[in-house]
Amino acid sequence: MVNYEVILSTANVVGATTFNNVFIKLVGTDGESDRSWLMNLKGPLAFTTGAVSSFNVSCSESIGKLVLIELDKQRLLIFPEDNWFPAKVEVKSPEGDTYNFPVYRWITDNEVHRFREGKALRVFDDIHHLGKYSREQELKQREEDYRWDVYAEGIPHSIKSEGPLSLPCEVRFSFTKTTEFLFTAASGLTELQLNGLADSKENWTDIEDINRVFCCKRTAISDYAQEHWKEDAFFGYQFLNGVNPILIQRCSALPKNLPVTNDMVCLPGQSSLEDEMKKGNIYLCDYKRLDGLEGNTINEKKQYLMAPLVLLHRTPDDKMMPIAIQLKQTPGDDNPIFFPSDSEYDWLMAKIFVRSADFSEHQLNVHLLRTHLLAEVFAVSMLRNVPMVHPLYKLLVPHTRYTLQINNLARLLLISETGVFTGFAASGGEAMFTILKRSLSSMTYSSLCIPDDIAERGLEAVPNFYYRDDGLRLWDIIHRFVQGILSFYYKNDAEVQQDSELQAWISDIFEHGLLSQPCPGIPRSFTTVAELVKFVTMVIFTCSAQHSAVNAGQYDYGGWMPNTPISLQLPPPTTKGTTSEATMLQTFPDVNTTVQGMATMWLLSKQSSDFVPLGRYPEDHFSEEIPHKLIKAFQGELQDLSEAIKARNKDLEVPYTYMDPTEVENSVAI
Ligand code: FE2
Repeated sequence: MVNYEVILSTANVVGATTFNNVFIKLVGTDGESDRSWLMNLKGPLAFTTGAVSSFNVSCSESIGKLVLIELDKQRLLIFPEDNWFPAKVEVKSPEGDTYNFPVYRWITDNEVHRFREGKALRVFDDIHHLGKYSREQELKQREEDYRWDVYAEGIPHSIKSEGPLSLPCEVRFSFTKTTEFLFTAASGLTELQLNGLADSKENWTDIEDINRVFCCKRTAISDYAQEHWKEDAFFGYQFLNGVNPILIQRCSALPKNLPVTNDMVCLPGQSSLEDEMKKGNIYLCDYKRLDGLEGNTINEKKQYLMAPLVLLHRTPDDKMMPIAIQLKQTPGDDNPIFFPSDSEYDWLMAKIFVRSADFSEHQLNVHLLRTHLLAEVFAVSMLRNVPMVHPLYKLLVPHTRYTLQINNLARLLLISETGVFTGFAASGGEAMFTILKRSLSSMTYSSLCIPDDIAERGLEAVPNFYYRDDGLRLWDIIHRFVQGILSFYYKNDAEVQQDSELQAWISDIFEHGLLSQPCPGIPRSFTTVAELVKFVTMVIFTCSAQHSAVNAGQYDYGGWMPNTPISLQLPPPTTKGTTSEATMLQTFPDVNTTVQGMATMWLLSKQSSDFVPLGRYPEDHFSEEIPHKLIKAFQGELQDLSEAIKARNKDLEVPYTYMDPTEVENSVAI
């Protein structure tokens, strides 16, 4: 007889305990154990939350190198069947070897579940017939559990599900997250103490009234935004370090549809627009994706959505100042170009229409499409095509946590027919899908990879651009980590080309994410290790750093409604000199629209208490020493960056925290 010591850890999450009987079978290269009941002196307390329990499994002779384990649980007569969340199983063999079996998933039935040893195996490494068989079975099951669905034509496909609770439990919110996160605008309204205003279809008549409803929840930056929202410098600053830092670009020739001439703009000294463009001091924000869209109807009133062009000048004292705004794409007599020299309210109204357009561009293109929907495609494709034992799964699974469920909720509660966005945003409804489609068809690979994106937009030298500074450093750190892990498993390009599971992953992303449209630069298959490393870096960066950059500041910059109106209900002036404070108040969204927007942005900026920061891996999917060392080095570099960002922020009037690694979540989870 030989003995195998089995050490089983139940996860430390709420509800992980089972009182059912647990059975294990060890499967090795030379044989297998009997299916053994795991029983020790702890009795039914062996599988409580956080418990680590040790057992003996005897075999008549050695079963060789362990390939997999089979786990199942059966209820006792007196106990009901319960849900169990085992974390991992460690097995010490009579030969003195230790085998690790990562599990990290709920077992909710009495079926047999197979788990592979933690050493990562690519498809062509998996030569044992039992290993191969279990790999195939796992993917077959996953293809059943994770099906593609078309939510709307022209946008990335999503997970097929009847609702958040019908998702497989391994991808659902934890109990903690579920109880904390009542994802309804109603709960946001309660937290902001705005319940009484949710039905008021009145206009704002005094800016002080907006101030009164805003006073319950504030952040340092939302206070700053309230104080400075009218200022040109703050308006320009937000294109660099606000929630949408990806639109602004250097302008070396004016677009044909923006007929601004030298004598119209006021530049310092004798400098001309051409001179300043040559020096790289002129910048453009072009909201052309919003052109020609019909505004929503809210409270039975038509809403207005513009597609502005904004020209900015980098001043000698390093400010990004707006110098001209045209609110519609086609120049014409009814489409004046506004300048800072216009009347106070003409210029302010022009900026308000830009900020409102930015809300739609940001929420739909920058936030929803380019982080949430892409992250879902990366995750679903991985779950369908890549088994747990694959190195890519081990590397990426922490970066997919909660993404399917949050997107499910977003579809249900934000963009559905009864969703908050549909009901209360100027671009809600039909326009929303047009913007998403246009955004997807104009997406490029370089725009998803921050080093290429910054170079392409000509922003290398812009001062005070913290999104770029922190983002580039984060990209480098993630890239070094991914390179370390993937080059440990892929020694040459041929191995990448031969890995059919990797190829299936990218192929599904192309088909279901990009809808087989040409997205310039995105690989349709992987031919080199370098190409794979870059793509996986982009995936992790998108799911973590980029999402944080475009998500975490929503309430900071949007809580004070005048700085980011989710809708506007008068058209912009077609002639100059007709606006006043009263025009501005009549243009702002009604009271109910305002508070619904505030409540949603509040909820979406909140950090959950089971938030996992970038680079922390509470689940130990890797067994080998090298990946563990690489994870340590990754965490060290993130820590150094965090300290550098915190030190830098001490001297800033408006700190930029969204890409501080301690504030960045591993995955799109909110
Ligand atoms: Fe988000």
